[in-house]
Amino acid sequence: MSNQAARLAIEGGSPVRPSMLPYAMHQITDEDIAAVSAVLRGTWLTTGPNVDAFERAVAAAVGAASVAAVSSGTAALHLAYLAAGIGPGDEIVTTPLTFAATANAALNCGARPVFADIDERTMNLAPAAAEAAITPRTKALVPVHYSGRSCEMDELRRICDRRGLLLIEDACHALGAVFRGRPVGSGPADLAAWSFHPAKHIATGEGGAVSSPGRPELVEAVRRLRNHGINVDARMRAGSKASWFYEIDRLGFNYRLADFNAALGTSQLKRLAANVARRRELAALYARELARFGELVLPAADDADHLSAWHLYMVRLRLERLSAGRAEVFAALRAEGIGVNVHYMPVYFHPLYERLGYRRGLCPVTERAYEGLITLPLFAAMTNADLADVVAALDKVLGRYRR
Ligand SMILES: Cc1ncc(COP(=O)(O)O)c(C=O)c1O
Repeated sequence: MSNQAARLAIEGGSPVRPSMLPYAMHQITDEDIAAVSAVLRGTWLTTGPNVDAFERAVAAAVGAASVAAVSSGTAALHLAYLAAGIGPGDEIVTTPLTFAATANAALNCGARPVFADIDERTMNLAPAAAEAAITPRTKALVPVHYSGRSCEMDELRRICDRRGLLLIEDACHALGAVFRGRPVGSGPADLAAWSFHPAKHIATGEGGAVSSPGRPELVEAVRRLRNHGINVDARMRAGSKASWFYEIDRLGFNYRLADFNAALGTSQLKRLAANVARRRELAALYARELARFGELVLPAADDADHLSAWHLYMVRLRLERLSAGRAEVFAALRAEGIGVNVHYMPVYFHPLYERLGYRRGLCPVTERAYEGLITLPLFAAMTNADLADVVAALDKVLGRYRR
């Protein structure tokens, strides 16, 4: 490497990449565009036959008996909690290492999220910590399959059965993940919440779903709540013999998914297996290429019980081996054209949570992990050459800051 190339871009050297490699990126094919165009040429734009078809396709993909599509993963969590009867005075136990929506949805029900610490190796909610956080007010455990690797669901199920709690999985990272030979979503959780935001495995623009392997009545409740709590579908009021009459018996929302979003989702789902397979390939390549960096802790590898969907690829910096902090390494990698990110700051660090009385120090394993967390780019359309650029940038940056 010439001196110029070796000099960090942030210090005036030339970057590894001239333009930014994003950390996540959706993929749209001509087939996707044709599927959406067909809906746009039709007469029904909002929740209709394409949503029904999408729900059937999601059910088949995740091994669930019933699915209700909604307008986002956040809406999915909110309605899953409401369907589960979570309300003012109740608590859910979840991980602080998640997108804030997991906890915010509880606040939006008037309930209180209680944070339990993670397992340092898998970065997922530690079952023992979750059990220790249960109080008489707890209604549900809400594990999050961080980065796409399933939590220890059998253990969490046993805790829920012993303590009379619902098990609601935030599966927003985990479409296509497998736990003990079964797709995430097929049990043992009572309900699963999914997101189809473009950073995820499939995109509907915005979109989400609640699924269940064995509690159809809860999914039915979601179906009503997504439409203001109205007891009949709009289509049932559209025919020549239909009545204008409907009733609302429970306060709901407009969390409906539109038909053209659903058509995009159904089209994208056809490529889910290939998408996840490519992510697994890239994750294996990262593991091989990054093993030589003593400054990095790599994510837990797949094993017989856990096949991750590899939504994201997070590494942790061993800060004691570096002369710079995470912020400097982050900025230096960005300057090299690598669109690194951080998933996530512990939820209770947000000022909203501080105002609600949550204090730092609550989950020390999560807080320590957060100090060194960096998300490297990972998406199905990423090439091996893109990945080689990430490794080259890490080589430059970690080489410069190595102690
Ligand atoms: C773990 C987790 N939960 C919930 C959500 C919310 O999903 P959405 O962005 O579709 O509302 C996300 C999305 O980023 C997520 O990563």
